[in-house]
Amino acid sequence: MEERIREIILKHSDRDAKLLGILHDIQDEFGYIPREAIDIVAEWLSISPGEVYDTASFYSFFRFKKAKHVIRVCNGIVCNLKGSEEIIRAIKERYGIKEGGVSEDGLFALEIVECIGRCDGPPAMLVDDDSYGNLTPQRALEILRGYEE
Ligand code: FES
Repeated sequence: MEERIREIILKHSDRDAKLLGILHDIQDEFGYIPREAIDIVAEWLSISPGEVYDTASFYSFFRFKKAKHVIRVCNGIVCNLKGSEEIIRAIKERYGIKEGGVSEDGLFALEIVECIGRCDGPPAMLVDDDSYGNLTPQRALEILRGYEE
């Protein structure tokens, strides 16, 4: 893991945009921001681990815990008008997850995103790389049950 984190850091040469870009790439690579990564990034950028953590925790899309599956519910305008907020609420209640959080059992992470290219079938969500449209809260929960095993 350490070698991969260092490769990610070296890809970013613009110092100002560096930290957020590195954190995004680390989350893309590992699915979350590992504790070890915070220390390595801090050392390489000559800032404190607290500064890295503060920046990462400011943004709800960074996670510090690994999840088996990532749910991305679209709350773009088209999906919002068709009831995406009810779907988000149902998922939060069913799995006890906050936006940007991970369920207690580590099964699901929840992200609220803007437009996932399924405006032809709103409201829509992605579970990992699988896309689902024309959702109701009940249908969304049925789909997620299929990911519980
Ligand atoms: S606004 Fe939801 S998929 Fe486009």
